[in-house]
Amino acid sequence: MRNVILTGDRPTGKLHVGHYVGSLRRRVELQNTGNYDDIYIMIADAQALTDNADNPEKVRQNIVEVALDYLACGLDPKVSTLFIQSMVPELTELSFYYMNLVTVSRLQRNPTVKAEIQMRNFEASIPVGFFTYPISQAADITAFKATVVPVGEDQMPMLEQTKEIVHKFNTVYGETLVEPKIMLPDNQACMRLPGIDGKAKMSKSLGNCIYLSDTEADVKKKVMSMFTDPNHLRVEDPGKVEGNPVFIYLDAFCKDEYFAEFLPDYANLDELKAHYTRGGLGDVKVKKFLNNVMQAELAPIRERRAQWEKDIPTVFDILKAGSEKAEKVAAETLAEVRRSMKINYFEDKALIKEQMEKYGN
Ligand code: TRP
Repeated sequence: MRNVILTGDRPTGKLHVGHYVGSLRRRVELQNTGNYDDIYIMIADAQALTDNADNPEKVRQNIVEVALDYLACGLDPKVSTLFIQSMVPELTELSFYYMNLVTVSRLQRNPTVKAEIQMRNFEASIPVGFFTYPISQAADITAFKATVVPVGEDQMPMLEQTKEIVHKFNTVYGETLVEPKIMLPDNQACMRLPGIDGKAKMSKSLGNCIYLSDTEADVKKKVMSMFTDPNHLRVEDPGKVEGNPVFIYLDAFCKDEYFAEFLPDYANLDELKAHYTRGGLGDVKVKKFLNNVMQAELAPIRERRAQWEKDIPTVFDILKAGSEKAEKVAAETLAEVRRSMKINYFEDKALIKEQMEKYGN
C-alpha cells in the first residue's frame, strides 16, 4: 500500500511555535525520511471561512503567511505538495456525498466542534457550514487516500469521524476509500504548548503567542516576560516544574547539546529541573537559557522566511502548481467514488442496456 500524508492548517493567522512543535517540525522530519510516496500540505481556506464568513479578507491575507511559514520550516515544495483547499473543488463534491452518511446527532457529539461552538458564541446560531466541517475534513483526507494524518490532539475527533465515514462508505458502496491513521506529537509538551502567560492555549486574541515570524528581539522579550511558578519568589525557594511554562517550553525545544553550548553547568534538562525543584535556581537564569534555545531553533526558520519573503511570486507559483497536482489526484478519487455510488451515468453502459431492455429495444 502507498504511504500518503495529508495535513493542513486554517489560514487565520501567522503560525506560532505551538504549531511548530505540535505539527510543523514533525512534517518536515517525515518529509525528510523519504518514506512517503506523497505528502500533501493543505492551506484550509474553505474551512477557515466556515467560522470567518464575514471576514474573507483575513483568510485571503493569511494564505501567503501560512505558505511562508511552511517554507520557512523546511517543507520542500519539490517533495511536499503545498496547496489551497478551495482550489480543489472536488473536495466540496465529496463532502456533499459524505453528508448523507453522517447524522446531525453524531456531529453534535463531536467534542472539538462542541468546544469551538462555545468559544465562538455560536450556541444560538451555528452556521451550517461550520457545523459540518468535520465532514469536509473527511473529504480532505480521503480525497488523497491519506494513510497518515499528523495533527494535534484536538483533531482526534475529526479523524474518528473520518474513519466512520470511510467505514460506512465502503460498507454501503463497496471498498473504495482508505482509512487514515492519526499521528500525534511525541510528547505532552508538544501536544499542548501553553501561551507565554501560562494559559492553556496560545491564541492571537489573548496575545500570548510566539510567532515563527517574530524577530529575535520579540522572542527574547516574550521569553523573559514568561509566566513561571508564582510561588517561586526568591531564588532559594523550591520551584515547581510541572505546569511551569518555561519548563514546558524547554521540554518541547531543548536538546542535550544546548547545555554544552549555553549552560554547561548542567548535562541535561533533568539536572536543571532537579536544581529548580530543590531551590537555588533563579527564573531569570532559566529564561535566559530558554531564550538561547529558542533563538537557536528559530533563527534558521526566520532566515529562510526572510528569503522567501523576497520572492512572493514564486510562493504563488508553488501554491498554484501544488493545487493543480492536488486537484488531479482528488478528481481521480472522486471518479472512483462516483463509480462506486453508481452515479457515473454517462460511463455506465449497464444502465443504458437495462433501460433499453425495460422498454423493449
Ligand atoms: N482542522 C485543521 C485546523 O484546524 C485544518 C484541516 C482541514 C486539516 N482539513 C484537514 C488537518 C485535514 C488535517 C487533515 O488547522
